[in-house]
Amino acid sequence: MKIIMNDSVENIFPELQKWVSGYFANLENLPVKSQSKIREIYGRLPENPPSEGEAFGDIFRDFNDIIMPGITHWQSPKFFAYFPANSSLPSLAAEVLTSAMGAQCMKWETSPAAAELEERVMNWLKEMLGIPAEFHGVIQDTASTSTLASLITAREYHSEFSINRSGYSGNEKFRVYCSTEAHSSVEKAVKITGIGRENLVKIPVNEDYSINTVLLDKAIQQDLNNGYRPLCVVAALGTTGSTAIDSLEEIAELKKKYGFWIHVDAAFLGTAFLLPEYRKYLKGIEHADTFVFNPHKWMFTNFDCSAYFVKDKNTLLNTFEIIPEYLKTRSDNAVNNYCDWGIPLGRRFRALKLWFVIRWYGVRGLQEKVRYHLALAKKFHDWVSSDREFELLAPLTANLVCFRYKPKDKSEDELNIINEQLLQRINASGKIYISHTKLGGRFTLRVVIAQTEVNESHVREAWDTIKYFSNQI
Ligand SMILES: Cc1ncc(COP(=O)(O)O)c(C=O)c1O
Repeated sequence: MKIIMNDSVENIFPELQKWVSGYFANLENLPVKSQSKIREIYGRLPENPPSEGEAFGDIFRDFNDIIMPGITHWQSPKFFAYFPANSSLPSLAAEVLTSAMGAQCMKWETSPAAAELEERVMNWLKEMLGIPAEFHGVIQDTASTSTLASLITAREYHSEFSINRSGYSGNEKFRVYCSTEAHSSVEKAVKITGIGRENLVKIPVNEDYSINTVLLDKAIQQDLNNGYRPLCVVAALGTTGSTAIDSLEEIAELKKKYGFWIHVDAAFLGTAFLLPEYRKYLKGIEHADTFVFNPHKWMFTNFDCSAYFVKDKNTLLNTFEIIPEYLKTRSDNAVNNYCDWGIPLGRRFRALKLWFVIRWYGVRGLQEKVRYHLALAKKFHDWVSSDREFELLAPLTANLVCFRYKPKDKSEDELNIINEQLLQRINASGKIYISHTKLGGRFTLRVVIAQTEVNESHVREAWDTIKYFSNQI
C-alpha cells in the first residue's frame, strides 16, 4: 500500500506565509482583471481525480501555474469595479484561525464563544452605525440571504404564520415595493418566497435615482383599491447602480398610513454610517423592521460577512426556529442559537474576523479610512466634472462616481457603443478594473473608490488610464 506523504504544518505554513507576503508585495503589478479565456483553465485540469494522494508541493505548483492566472485581483488597489469585497490583515488573520479551528457554530453549545462574540460585536456595530438599541443583530452570509430572511419574516408576520403552517391559501394577494434601482436580490427573494415576481412593484425614481415616494404612495393606494395587501417596502440606502439613497423618512411616513414592513438594504453604503455626517440618511430607522449592511463590502472584513438587524426578534424566531430532537440542548431557553435566526443550520465563525477588524482599526481608524475614500472619490469626481469630454451621470452621494465619455456630435446610441468599447479596452489592459451600469438608458461607467490600500496615485492612474483609452477610440 502506498503511504500518502503529505507535508506537515511546519513545512506548509512558511510556504504559505512567503506566498501571501509575495502576493501582497506584487499585487499592484498584476493585471487586475484576469485575462483568462473561456474554458482555458478547465482544459488544463485533468479529466479524472487523482487516485493516490499527491505531494503538497505539486498541488501548490499547479495552484500558481493554473489557478492564479484565472484570478481577478479583488484586493488590488486598482480594483474600482462593482462594489469591492475589501479585506485587511486582521480579517485575514482571523480567517486563518477560523479555518484552523473549523468550528461549526450553529448553536451556542457547539461553540459558546462564537455565539457570545457574535452578540457582542453586533451590539458594537449598532452603536458604531447609529442603529437603535432595540434592534438585534445576527451575521448572515450575504445581503441576498438577509433580504430573503426579511421577506420570509414579513410574509409570516402579515399572515400570522399561516403560510409556514399550511402554505399559501391563494387569498393573500401580497405586494412588495422597491424602486426600479433596487438590487436584484429583492426580485430573487419575491420569487423564492412564493410572493411572485408579478407582485413586486418597481416604483420609478427621482432625478437622483432615489425612489419617488409620491408614486409609491399612489401605487399602494391603487393596489389597495384592487384588493392587494402591501406587505413590504424595501428601502435602498445606496443603490448598486449609483449609491442613490431612498428617503427612509418618507417611507416611514407611509408606513404609518399603510402598516407595511420596511426592510432597509444598505449593503454597500451602510459602512458610511460610521460617520456622524451620514447618519441623516438613517432618519426614520426606528420605523424599519430589518436592516442589512455588508462589512464584507467596504468595512475591511473579507467575504463573507453580512450584518443583519431585526427589531422584533420573536417574529424572526417564530419564523425560522425548528428544534428537532438531535439539536435539543439544555441551554436552549437561555442563549442565542443563531441557527434559528436565518436559513442555514450550519454557520461559520464569522464574528471573529469582525472582532479582529474593529479592534485593529478602532472606530476612529475605520472612520478615517472611510473619510479618506470619500475624499478620493470627490477628487476623481471633480476631475471628471472639469473635463469637457466627459459627463457625470449621477450625483455623488459617497464614493461611487458614475460618468461617461462624451465626445461631441454623437447620438445616444453611439455614445452607448463607444462607452461599452471603452470599458472593454480599459479592462482588457489589466491596468485597472472598472464596471458599468445603465442609468436612464445611458451606458454608465462606474468607478468605486473603497479598496483597503487605495491611495491618490492609484486613483490618478485610473483617471489617466480612462483618458488614455478614450483618446484611442
Ligand atoms: C444594494 C445591494 N444590495 C444587495 C447586494 C447583494 O449583496 P450580496 O452579494 O451580499 O448578496 C448588493 C451587491 O452588490 C448591493 O449592491
